[in-house]
Amino acid sequence: MRCVRCGEKAVALAAGRTAYCRQHYLEWFEEKVSRTIKKLGMFGTRDRILVAVSGGKDSLVLWHVLNRLGYSADGVFVHLKIPEYSDKSFEVTKRFAEKEGLRLLVVESSSPVRILARKSRRKTCSACGIVKRHELNRLAHEQGYSVLATGHNLDDETAVLLANVMKWDSQALARQSPVLPGSGKLVKRVKPLCFLTEKHSAQYALLAGIDYVQEECPFSRNASTTFYKKMLNALEQRFPGTKKNVYKRFLEFRKNIPQEEMVLKDCRECGYPTTGDICSFCRIVRGSLQPRC
Ligand code: FES
Ligand code: ZN
Ligand code: ZN
Repeated sequence: MRCVRCGEKAVALAAGRTAYCRQHYLEWFEEKVSRTIKKLGMFGTRDRILVAVSGGKDSLVLWHVLNRLGYSADGVFVHLKIPEYSDKSFEVTKRFAEKEGLRLLVVESSSPVRILARKSRRKTCSACGIVKRHELNRLAHEQGYSVLATGHNLDDETAVLLANVMKWDSQALARQSPVLPGSGKLVKRVKPLCFLTEKHSAQYALLAGIDYVQEECPFSRNASTTFYKKMLNALEQRFPGTKKNVYKRFLEFRKNIPQEEMVLKDCRECGYPTTGDICSFCRIVRGSLQPRC
């Protein structure tokens, strides 16, 4: 196969199975990210961006690409104290930051996330999500960042979409967006890789020489989204372009979903916005979460 831009030997396939050589694949990927940022109004060159980095391919690729595109982006790693996995992920992230000369911030969970989950009678992934969302937002707000960027890709977004549809959770569907505006102590959140697949990021990482943690989090194996991703991959195999089409149509459709107004107040413990008196993070971390049915 030959690169469609220069005729050299192709080494990677982009969206629509278009073949590219190394240089043109890297360019295609970066152009795609740049177009998504501009089209969805995610941020500009004056914004201070904080990228949530986990040591995985998507977040490291995103951090690398944003800086290559001329944005000012620092990284933050949330250490969740997952045995072996967290230390290894942190080492890889630290090495990457040093190699690229980028600023990395670190937040440590007060206790291992598995213990927090057990105490609060939640699944580990659910407790982990609450801790990460809260700590990332808190740090971004305290350090004066205007945007928090995450490496969620098309596979993540379509798997969450499918999960929300399976539950007919109209409010979760109304809130699912690659751009969540900020207000007050809530920092704007964006997903610049939302139209690129996991495979696209893996190819970019390989071709750009980015070393990343290959293992998945040990708690993600039984997560329902992992199963949904497999189903979607089977669909994509049979009907190429399915994920992108479904996601793009959903983004159009969600504009018509009536969104209930959420009344937010300050958490009595930490002062960050919440719908109740005490936010989920404080209830988990301080062990005062009420048993859930
Ligand atoms: Fe949070 Fe796996 S990274 S539970
Ligand atoms: Zn080429
Ligand atoms: Zn709180």
